[in-house]
Amino acid sequence: MPSNSAFTRLHYYDSIDSTNSEAQRLLLSGEAVPFAISAGAQSAGRGRQGRAWQSAEGNLFYSFVCKPDAVLQIWPQLSFVAAIAVCEVLRPIMSQANLQCKWPNDVLCNDKKIAGILLETSPDRAGATNLIIGIGINISSHPDGMAYPATSIFAETRKTIGPKQLAEDLGDKLQFHIGRWQKDGFALFRQAWLDQAAFRGQKITVSEAAGAPNGQLSGIFLDLRDDGALLLGLEENKVLPIFSGIVGL
Ligand code: BTN
Repeated sequence: MPSNSAFTRLHYYDSIDSTNSEAQRLLLSGEAVPFAISAGAQSAGRGRQGRAWQSAEGNLFYSFVCKPDAVLQIWPQLSFVAAIAVCEVLRPIMSQANLQCKWPNDVLCNDKKIAGILLETSPDRAGATNLIIGIGINISSHPDGMAYPATSIFAETRKTIGPKQLAEDLGDKLQFHIGRWQKDGFALFRQAWLDQAAFRGQKITVSEAAGAPNGQLSGIFLDLRDDGALLLGLEENKVLPIFSGIVGL
């Protein structure tokens, strides 16, 4: 049954394959945007670059669906806007924790991944393109043995938080910030993201970087460009834009 938070219609399912897949189906069935989907568990949750997203009960699996009033080329900026929204929702719950944004689409808590964001575009019944912002937040559990260590709200705070409340708070924040982004542009979100970015100014390694020898590059994390590229400082003052890859120290 859809329920209403302050702004966004929320469809809740006890269990589903993927909230992003359900968003695609609802768009094709004529559901009007914006709307959101949240599920208690996912059987086929997906992450970026074809990876699976472990989706145990007790965590948040959420998709926000909208048709941004802006040219399609700048929609990827909304993954950074979404990361800021996630940090803002988590901060009151985790006031002692160090929450950071990790390029391109992760949120870290005390140096471990607590949330991931997956942007996808999808057609509606009229053939128009819509944006699906899929967000997974580890509330009560997190996977072990990941290439990048993970954590959860419970692991960091021992607090028990309900996914439904978090979903409603996130929907309100996203709706508000997407409206601001449409009206005022990316500049203030870019700065807010940089202010809480992990590894900024530090020497980083980017693995699985497209076009790099062995897929690996090292340099200084200098900046974030408006198109979402990470600017990597190399020797001889060269600056290389990075469009995809996995960042670590
Ligand atoms: C990543 O870090 O690779 C992104 C993970 C995104 C996971 C969320 S969970 C809700 C939504 N439905 C999915 O199948 N994936 C996203």
